[in-house]
Amino acid sequence: MWKELGKWGMGPPSGGGGQQPGGGQQPGGQKPLLRRNSPLLWILIIGAILIYTQTDGSLFGPLDQSHVSRMAVPPEEIKGEFALIDHTGTPRTQADFLGKHTLIYFGFTWCPDVCPSSMLILADVVEDLQAQGKAVQPLFITVDPQRDTVEKLADYAAQLPGLVALTGSQEAVDEALDNFGIYRRSHASGPEDSDYRVDHASLFYLMGPEGEFVTHYTPSQGPTQIALELERDLRG
Ligand code: NI
Repeated sequence: MWKELGKWGMGPPSGGGGQQPGGGQQPGGQKPLLRRNSPLLWILIIGAILIYTQTDGSLFGPLDQSHVSRMAVPPEEIKGEFALIDHTGTPRTQADFLGKHTLIYFGFTWCPDVCPSSMLILADVVEDLQAQGKAVQPLFITVDPQRDTVEKLADYAAQLPGLVALTGSQEAVDEALDNFGIYRRSHASGPEDSDYRVDHASLFYLMGPEGEFVTHYTPSQGPTQIALELERDLRG
């Protein structure tokens, strides 16, 4: 069954947390530069917080940017157009899905944690709606076309009945992701790199029967809440 989390994850387990710097013990007898309640200490702390919040944390290294939950463009700029290849090798465009709602997740098959659990949520939501006699077509669009081949997507799609998983040339996928306003940044050193990650927007998009963007959900909402909202959004 696709409900087993491990089946989705083709990648290695995620790495542990960042390294903690060593404890700052002062050698005996020496006067510490920063005493507790020293104004300088507070200036440094407040300064650090300000820099951190103004720079999105990038100055301080390992803030997790691997799965962001923001759209790269405002909703009205989402075109929703794509010309890709599905997991059976068949060319597909948004026109193939006109007349029904689609629920799209963007990710990559090697992703060790967030993408697999998001796909489980997608499966749960689709099943929940089906149980209520409502249909939504699940789609997966890769953010990593160099490594997510048709064959790899076939394995992935086999775990959710009805899922259409899409890949294509780098150019075609780039164009599609730009049309959806999906941020992604690959850390792979090349097509053969087997130990890599791709930072990407981790979002579900609900597209309407005319291919229009309706709304988006985040995996952190969980399947029950998404299904509730989705059901309401399907009613319009
Ligand atoms: Ni991912």
